[in-house]
This record gives sequence, C-alpha cells and structure tokens, in this order.
Amino acid sequence: MVDSFRIGIAGLGTVGAGVIKILQTHQTMISGRAGCSVEIVAVSARDKSKDRGVDLSRYEWLDKAASLAGRDDLDAVVELIGGEEGDALELARNALDNGISFVTANKALLAHHGYDLAVLAEENNVSLMYEAAVAGGIPIIKSLREGFAANEIEAVYGILNGTCNYILTEMRETGRPFSDVLKEAQDKGYAEADPEFDIEGIDSAHKLCLLSSLAFGVKPDFQTLKAQGISHITAADISYAQELGYRIKLLGISRQIDGTIIQMVEPCLVSESSTMGAVEGVFNAVFVEGDFVGTELQIGRGAGEGPTASAIVADIIDLARGYKVPAFGIPALMLADANKGDPGEMESRFYIHLTVIDKPGVLAEITAIMRDHDVSMEDVLQRGRDPENSASVVITSHSTKQAEIHKAVAKIESLDFVVKNPTLLRIENF
Ligand SMILES: NC(=O)c1ccc[n+]([C@@H]2O[C@H](COP(=O)([O-])OP(=O)(O)OC[C@H]3O[C@@H](n4cnc5c(N)ncnc54)[C@H](OP(=O)(O)O)[C@@H]3O)[C@@H](O)[C@H]2O)c1
Repeated sequence: MVDSFRIGIAGLGTVGAGVIKILQTHQTMISGRAGCSVEIVAVSARDKSKDRGVDLSRYEWLDKAASLAGRDDLDAVVELIGGEEGDALELARNALDNGISFVTANKALLAHHGYDLAVLAEENNVSLMYEAAVAGGIPIIKSLREGFAANEIEAVYGILNGTCNYILTEMRETGRPFSDVLKEAQDKGYAEADPEFDIEGIDSAHKLCLLSSLAFGVKPDFQTLKAQGISHITAADISYAQELGYRIKLLGISRQIDGTIIQMVEPCLVSESSTMGAVEGVFNAVFVEGDFVGTELQIGRGAGEGPTASAIVADIIDLARGYKVPAFGIPALMLADANKGDPGEMESRFYIHLTVIDKPGVLAEITAIMRDHDVSMEDVLQRGRDPENSASVVITSHSTKQAEIHKAVAKIESLDFVVKNPTLLRIENF
C-alpha cells in the first residue's frame, strides 16, 4: 500500500474542474476509501488565467499537457481534454508507455484506439480506466466488467445520449420542432455548440462500441458501426408515435445472435408504458441481459459535471487501492474481431410515415407493395390534408425482416404521389 496516490490532470473544463472539486470536497473520505491520500500533483489546460471555480494554487501548472506523460512522480494521468486524436491520444500513448495508468472520459478516443491502448496498458503493467466514458454517473463499465462477469451477455442496450433524450422529450411535451428544441438545449448547455456528434448518433455509437467490447469480448470497432441520429425526426412523428402508444428514443443496441454481434444506433419506437419509454429528459438507461442474471437495468444522469467527475474519481480510487483489471474485461490480446451479423436479417416491427398526395388509390398501391415484400400491416393512420393537398399515412407493420421493409419503402418512395422522404423507424419491444 502506498502513502499517497499521485495524479496529473489534463483538461480543466466541465469534467476536469468537477474532478478537482470532488477531490477537494471529499479529501478525507476519499483517503479512507482509497487506503491512501489522493494527491493532485500537476494540472494542465490551455488558458492558465481562466477562473475555473476551483483553487489550483497548490498544483504545478503545465502549459503542455503532453509533459505529464514524461514525469516520474505520477501514478496516473487523468485525461479530460477530449478528441479522438491529437493531444489526448498522444498523452494516452506516452503515459501508458511510460508506465503511468491512464484515466479518461473520452469515449471517442477509446472507440477508435481502445484496443491499441488496452494492449499498451497491459504491456506496461498499468491500467486503462474509463468509467466516465459511458453513461456518466451510471457505473455500467464496472457492472459489465465485474458485476456481470459470471454471465454470458446476450444483449446490452439503452439510451446512451442525454442530449438526444432531452430533445425528444421536449419535442413530445411541447410539440415544438427539432431545430427549436436543439437551440434551447444549446442555450441551456445540454448540447454542444457543434452538436453533430450527439444528434447524429455518433456519441452513442462511440459508447456502444465500448459496451459491446466489454459484453462480448471483442475489440472496440467504431468503423463498421452505422449510426443514425435524430435530426430527421419531426414533431409529427413524435405525435403519431404517441397516438399509437409509443415514444421515440435514440437507442444503442448490441445483441449476440447465433455467434454474431449486431450493433445499431437508431431512433426507435418503444411502448410508452415500458420502462425505457419512461426514461425522459437528460437521463440515460442501460439494460444488460445475462444468461444467469436475467435482465438488469440502470438509470441515471449520463453527463454533466457531477456525474461524470464522480465516475472519474471512482476510477482514481480503484487505482489508488491497487486494483487492477483488464480494460475490456479480458486480456487485450484475447479480444476477438467481432463476427458482425447482418442487421438486414433482423426481424422487427416497424413504423412508416409517408407524406402523399391525397387522391384515390394511394393506400391500395402502398398496400400492394407491402404485400409483395411480405410485410403485413398492423395499424394504419391517415391524417391531415395540408394546403398542398398532401396527407400523412402512418403504418405500423407486424414483425418483418429489416431488408424487406427497406426494399418496400424504397419502392414506395419512388412513386409519384409520395412527396417527402418517408420516415422508417424500428419498433422495439422491451
Ligand atoms: N461534459 C460532460 O458532461 C461529459 C460527459 C462524459 C464525458 N465527457 C468527456 O470528458 C472530456 C472532457 O469534456 P468537458 O466537457 O470537460 O470538456 P471542456 O469543458 O471543453 O474542457 C476541455 C478542457 O480541455 C482543455 N484543453 C483543450 N485542449 C487542450 C490541450 N491541447 N492541452 C491541454 N488542455 C486542453 C481546455 O482548456 P481551457 O479550459 O484552457 O480551454 C478545457 O479545460 C471529453 O472527452 C468528453 O467527451 C464529458
């Protein structure tokens, strides 16, 4: 047992300042839990003069974050800069190479370089920790790596992005369009100035890669994961979904089916009376299905200073206790390349929203195409007639292969009475 566990922190923004706040506020309690004092030795950010709401006077200031990696007085470097390449990656590689454990909240970095960094950590007999990278305050990394270690995991899925969940919740509650609510989310600080990663599903995909790796013992692989975001979801879709008893949620889903892994990030309909449907606002929810444990659920705040910094400090305490565990649950060199399943073969129910010229025979033609592709319809709504004489036709299907419904919708889209791009969403039964 060491007397003190010494860390350097790179990045003093929302999360970095939060980490310092927790370590200062709970110094005695944390020492007790860690079995030694946790000492911040040095910090780094871009602008030394910025007031970060925490007292930094006791710590050495470094203008270059990269220099943390070369020190011999640190047990861990905490990277809270962000970005999948650049200084964050350089710091990770150099710290691990120099035998310093690395703690991060940076899911983009790990989704792209997680495997190489995990190998590097093991080669140097140090740890790569990233509890804060997925679902903020929810300890899902530890749960999957340790709590569920006795199980073969069948699926892991959930709401992994609080910004999108906030936007979808606000759109449903207020009937306002996506662009209005996004602007409000940015004004309130829930969405980044550049919201692309959140609203296009990329942030959820980064997180899902890490969950898949832990759940199924495969290398994190962002490149082959196709993500769909929520920017095409309209207030009308949300309202029709509600009329049919559903809510729209951006879900990350990873399932093991017949030895293959199917990963997807897309907006889906879930029953409004389901637990998933009830997770609203900035909250995240992660479900894990294990063969012996059954289905488990954790709900909590997925981002923000407090929850994210809390997860970082939990990792620091684990390291200070001398705790050591492979980053993705098994030795990195045992991580397999994922045997990817074909999502087209997956069967689900679907929601289709078509905007069509309101004239006789339209529904008959749509129905014929559906029949030709073996898609049977469960519910049909016809709504509204706007000044351009168009109407909405909303269909829910019985369970059908994704590939078939895609073909059917592509054919319907090419018909001259269809005036807007159709919306096609999976209906998930949780
Ligand atoms: N915010 C959240 O709720 C949340 C949740 C989960 C995960 N994360 C992850 O946590 C990480 C940090 O996020 P954040 O929200 O705290 O970001 P942030 O508020 O933008 O802070 C980034 C910090 O990094 C510093 N920085 C930028 N480039 C640097 C460089 N080259 N060298 C040294 N410092 C540099 C900035 O310095 P200045 O302050 O001087 O400009 C700033 O202090 C990201 O990986 C993010 O994805 C964040």
